[in-house]
Amino acid sequence: MKILFLDQSGKLGGAELSLLDVASAFSPNCLVGIFQDGPFAEALAARQIPYQVLTQAPIQVNKDSGWADSLSSIGQVVPLVATIARLGRKYDLIYTNTSKALILGALASRLCGKPLVHHLRDIVSPEHFSAANRTLLITAANGCATHVIANSRATAAAFVAAGGNAKKVSVVYNGFLPQAYQTATESTLREDLGLGNRFVVGHFSRLAPWKGQHILIEALAHCPESVVALLVGDALFGEQDYVETLHRQVEQLGLNHRVKFLGFRSDIAQLMQACDLVVHTSTAPEPFGRVIVEAMLCQRPVIAAASGGTVELITHGETGWLCPPGQPQKLSDLICHSHRQPAQTQGIAQAGYHHALAHFTLETTQQALHQQLAQVVA
Ligand code: UDP
Ligand code: GLC
Repeated sequence: MKILFLDQSGKLGGAELSLLDVASAFSPNCLVGIFQDGPFAEALAARQIPYQVLTQAPIQVNKDSGWADSLSSIGQVVPLVATIARLGRKYDLIYTNTSKALILGALASRLCGKPLVHHLRDIVSPEHFSAANRTLLITAANGCATHVIANSRATAAAFVAAGGNAKKVSVVYNGFLPQAYQTATESTLREDLGLGNRFVVGHFSRLAPWKGQHILIEALAHCPESVVALLVGDALFGEQDYVETLHRQVEQLGLNHRVKFLGFRSDIAQLMQACDLVVHTSTAPEPFGRVIVEAMLCQRPVIAAASGGTVELITHGETGWLCPPGQPQKLSDLICHSHRQPAQTQGIAQAGYHHALAHFTLETTQQALHQQLAQVVA
């Protein structure tokens, strides 16, 4: 099966990290077409997955854009669609991995007559998309996609609630390579980062308002001095104002000595293992939340914001803890509880680990995807 994958990003977000694993299973009989050069292209090259940067000018429409912005980007879109349609003729299937890729891939699939599968990794709701973009996305999926793969039941439900065709959608969870999260050597990261024997709470996510790093910082102010936070991740999509707000918040709360911003890192497993607890704090529904399963595979206890796909990953009090989103006081109560109850916390981390091993392996994900894509091609 020859697949043309399409992704709008040049950065390494969760959608792109997931696509690296999906595409590697079809490599070298595939091409990953991306709309921007950058770290994602480097990661594809490092894995020897064939890729091509399809345009030099990134498309200027974002998730909040209205119709006018969408229409004004037509000058960029037309040549890009033509390029995709020309490439598409050499493949059995076009597989789109992001929303802009869906819009362009949908038009191109019509032109070249090849089936389209969209991997929906976003919650199509007002918190995440403007009304105009929700309409565009749903129209493209309903009208042009043979099948839609959702990364969680929450993502699938939001798609249907927004008008998406329920008959086209199925759920395939993200999968992970367990051994990638087990490091053999004892790391010196805790000493290197000057963490000593403090209780280290890690947050692993791009810096963006809806990822809610500010909720953790506020929660930290309610925790004892011995609790410190590592914020791992950078603003990937222009959220520079939010980064400044976070630094100001840390300053104002007098938490400089208890919060470390580490920027974007590639040593996620080692960093997670250097933590006593991993927290996820999204304030809008999280479509899936790779970081939650990654922490489980690192045998670290997790607290996640209970909204979107996260409630499908964690059973509260058994395989992790769920916290109402946007509530720093509740988050701090859970952090303190975990700090005070090491035995229970250890049990939860172990249960989370076994749950992740049983339900979120790459092998299972690849089998499910392969089967669904083969059906579309047949
Ligand atoms: N990540 C990373 N380096 C960082 C911060 C995050 O590689 O500095 C990874 C993280 O391990 C996870 C992904 O980025 O695999 C984020 O995926 P998730 O589904 O949690 O959120 P998204 O950013 O896709 O909404
Ligand atoms: C998107 C979502 C994230 C999900 C990832 C991989 O980036 O925001 O929740 O885990 O895709 O499917």
